[in-house]
Amino acid sequence: MSEPISDPTAIKAAVREHYGNAIQAASGCCGPTCCGPTSTEVALYGAETITALPADVVTASFGCGNSLAIAKLQPNEVVLDLGSGGGLEVLLAARQVGPAGFVYGLDMTDAMLETARRNAQKLGATNVSFLKGDIEAIPLPDRSVDVIISNCVINLAPDKGQVLGDAFRTLRPGGRLAVSDIVFDGELSDLPIAEAELRTALSWAGCFAGALSMSQYRTLLEAAGFTEIDLTVTQRYGADDLRAQALADEGLLPVEILQSLDGKITSCAITARRPG
Ligand SMILES: C[S@@+](CC[C@H](N)C(=O)[O-])C[C@H]1O[C@@H](n2cnc3c(N)ncnc32)[C@H](O)[C@@H]1O
Repeated sequence: MSEPISDPTAIKAAVREHYGNAIQAASGCCGPTCCGPTSTEVALYGAETITALPADVVTASFGCGNSLAIAKLQPNEVVLDLGSGGGLEVLLAARQVGPAGFVYGLDMTDAMLETARRNAQKLGATNVSFLKGDIEAIPLPDRSVDVIISNCVINLAPDKGQVLGDAFRTLRPGGRLAVSDIVFDGELSDLPIAEAELRTALSWAGCFAGALSMSQYRTLLEAAGFTEIDLTVTQRYGADDLRAQALADEGLLPVEILQSLDGKITSCAITARRPG
C-alpha cells in the first residue's frame, strides 16, 4: 500500500488540481453554453429553486448536502461560504439575505472563483464577493459574519482544527455555523483496518480520506469554543458508493473491509454556535 499523503501543501495542491479540472469539465460540458442543472442539483436544492436560476448559472455543484437548508438564513444577515466552488450556494444565499445582507464566498481554486464571479455577474448579484484564500486562514476580520456555511469542504482541509478555530474567530458572538460535510459514523478504532491504512486507500479529493469521525468533529468544535453542537446524518454511503467514488485504485481495500465500512461514511448536517 502506498504512503499516505500527509504533507498539507501536497494535499492542497492535489485538491486544487482536482477541483480546477472538475469545474472546467463541468462548465465545458456542452461547449460555450452549459447543459443546465443535473439531477444532483435538483435533488439537493429542489426543482423550484434550481429552475428559478438561469440554466447556465447552475454549473456543477460538488456538495454532499444543502447547507442553506441547514442554515435557515434570515434577511440582512452577513454570510460566509467556506469553499464556495462555482458559487451556487452563495448566489442562492444572496437571494435569501436580500439586498441589505451580504454573502462572501471563499475558495482557493482559480477556476472555481472565475466561474463563481461569472455567474454572479450573469445574475446581476451585487451583494456577493468571491475571495481567494485558504479556509485555514480566513481573510475576514474578527466577529464580522453572522453565519458560516460550507458544503463538503472542511473534510478536504489538512488542519480542520485551524479551520474551525478561524471560523469561530470570524463569527460574531451569537453567530452560527451550518455545514454539510462527510463524516465517519462510529469510531475508526473499531474498524478491522488501521486508520492510517484506511485513509491511504480512500481518496482525499473524493472527500472520504480526510473525513473526521463524529466524535473527532465534536471535539474540534468544542476546542474552538462552539456550543449547541449537533451532528445529524443526512445520507449514508454504501460499499458500492465507496467502490465507485472513493477508492484511488480498484481493489485497494479488501472486500471485507469495504463491507465493514458499509453505511459508516455519511453526509452530516453540522450546526454549532459561537456563544453570544
Ligand atoms: C467538494 S468542492 C465543494 C464546492 C461547493 N461548496 C459546492 O457545494 O459545490 C470543494 C471546494 O472547496 C475548495 N477548497 C478545498 N480546500 C480548500 C481550502 N483549504 N481553502 C479554500 N478552498 C478550499 C475547492 O477548491 C473546491 O472548490
